[in-house]
Amino acid sequence: PTVNETIARPAPALPDAQTVTEVQHYTDRLFRFRVTRPASLRFRSGEFLMIGLLGDNGKPLLRAYSIASPSWDDELEFYSIKVQDGPLTSKLQHIQPGDQLIVRPKPVGTLVHDALLPGKRLYFFATGTGFAPFASLLREPETYERFDEVIITHTCRDVEELTYGRELIEGLKADEMMQELLGDGLEKIRYYPTTTREESPKMGRITKLIETGELFADLGIPALNPETDRAMVCGSLEFNKDIKTLLEQAGLREGANSEPAEFVVEKAFVG
Ligand code: A2P
Repeated sequence: PTVNETIARPAPALPDAQTVTEVQHYTDRLFRFRVTRPASLRFRSGEFLMIGLLGDNGKPLLRAYSIASPSWDDELEFYSIKVQDGPLTSKLQHIQPGDQLIVRPKPVGTLVHDALLPGKRLYFFATGTGFAPFASLLREPETYERFDEVIITHTCRDVEELTYGRELIEGLKADEMMQELLGDGLEKIRYYPTTTREESPKMGRITKLIETGELFADLGIPALNPETDRAMVCGSLEFNKDIKTLLEQAGLREGANSEPAEFVVEKAFVG
């Protein structure tokens, strides 16, 4: 380029700026959006990174968000709560296609296949926006290469809050590209949605449904077993703690990237 062209090129408005490509609102508390992917970004399905907007003081206002898209996707997807007085989400909920978003290209996280020992059955336990990392892992071929059965439980207050997860799973099964990519992996998915505050076909906290054995009876599978079962957990702090206790009672041990074991836990982004 000539000197003039170099000068004429507009400077990026934000550091690490990406462009919003799609926004979909589900309820007054939940929405999903997609952005362009930084060219240099490599991540493992299930990881999170920092994203955000410029705050009123001109400084970046960033929060940890699980990447809901799989590692092979050309765009990044996120699934978010909207909090009316939340420092970031009060603004983030108004983004539109074409807007800029800060995406720091430094992915980290424990909800990755590398942190689990091989097994037969993989459980994903999610509440609320804790579904996001599993939206990534459900679209990741490695999930089906490593496991014979993939059980995704999602507990929300009401039926409408299950929409993102339900549409994602239905979409996988209907999408030709996904059928080609995931093949008979798609038949391995067992989706187990539950609600706690609105009538639906399956009601109750998943913790309760594990304790009573109802989850296993409904799916026609044996109770949790450290020989065969692996789990990833993503929800509120209390939820994570309660599921962890149940998994440990069943003899599963918490793993990490450096020391893979039978389950891993990560807190969902809140506020
Ligand atoms: P509940 O309605 O009984 O609180 P939230 O919208 O507050 O993030 O919660 C999402 C879902 O997770 C709700 O259905 C909620 O049930 C459930 N939940 C919250 N805490 C726990 C917990 N400690 N164990 C199991 N489920 C939980």
